[in-house]
Amino acid sequence: MQTGKCSIAIDGPAGAGKSSVARLLAKRLGFLHIDTGALYRALTLEVLRNSVKPTDAQEVAKIAEQANIEITPGSEGIRVLLNGEDVTKAIREPMVSENVSLVAQHPEVREYLLVLQRQLAADGGTVMDGRDIGTVVLPEADLKIFLTASAEERARRRMKELRAQGYKVTYKDVLLSIRARDNLDAERLVAPLRAATDAVPVDTTGKDVDTVVEEILGHLSTVGGLDGCSTEQ
Ligand code: DC
Repeated sequence: MQTGKCSIAIDGPAGAGKSSVARLLAKRLGFLHIDTGALYRALTLEVLRNSVKPTDAQEVAKIAEQANIEITPGSEGIRVLLNGEDVTKAIREPMVSENVSLVAQHPEVREYLLVLQRQLAADGGTVMDGRDIGTVVLPEADLKIFLTASAEERARRRMKELRAQGYKVTYKDVLLSIRARDNLDAERLVAPLRAATDAVPVDTTGKDVDTVVEEILGHLSTVGGLDGCSTEQ
């Protein structure tokens, strides 16, 4: 890591607002936003396209080795490329959402994406969001935030997002799927979803993105602001 270039880790369950908060926070700081869920989603898309069972560890690992996943900054946030194809939209389809936790549970997948994530964050000046950023990917991050919100609020947000994209979903189904994903993410043997002991918990229930970003900027100043960032990762 370069001198004075901060890395900020944001973890939390599905729908806690990680991506929106991380995107705006990165914009405010002039940092690169790395949405690590997008990497798991891109890999899941490739698994499904190859008709591989998401539970088949060996076959999924083969796909992970062959797939070329990239993240590039775009005008409306990051763009995700899978073997050179822009899959930014495709990775948000419900089919991918339903299978991504299964793909993410394989140790081989996590090991492969761990290397990629550390490469992406190597220069600092990054806001990285995911499930295990503060605990596994960037244990030396300068600031760690653990975002939460009630399952009901998270389901309402996801439902709004999906309906805006034209999907006909019910609140009950979205809530069930959020709860199922919470369980899979929290119970997975490798790198389960949990807050790092030195993470700052931030509850986003009833708060808009700007309010949450302001709160995080406040926490950043308590660790010395941008000048207080460590020189080594
Ligand atoms: O944040 P998201 O909903 O786009 O994440 C999709 C899935 O990827 C989520 O169910 C768990 C997995 N994931 C993970 O296991 N570790 C990460 N660092 C990021 C995401």
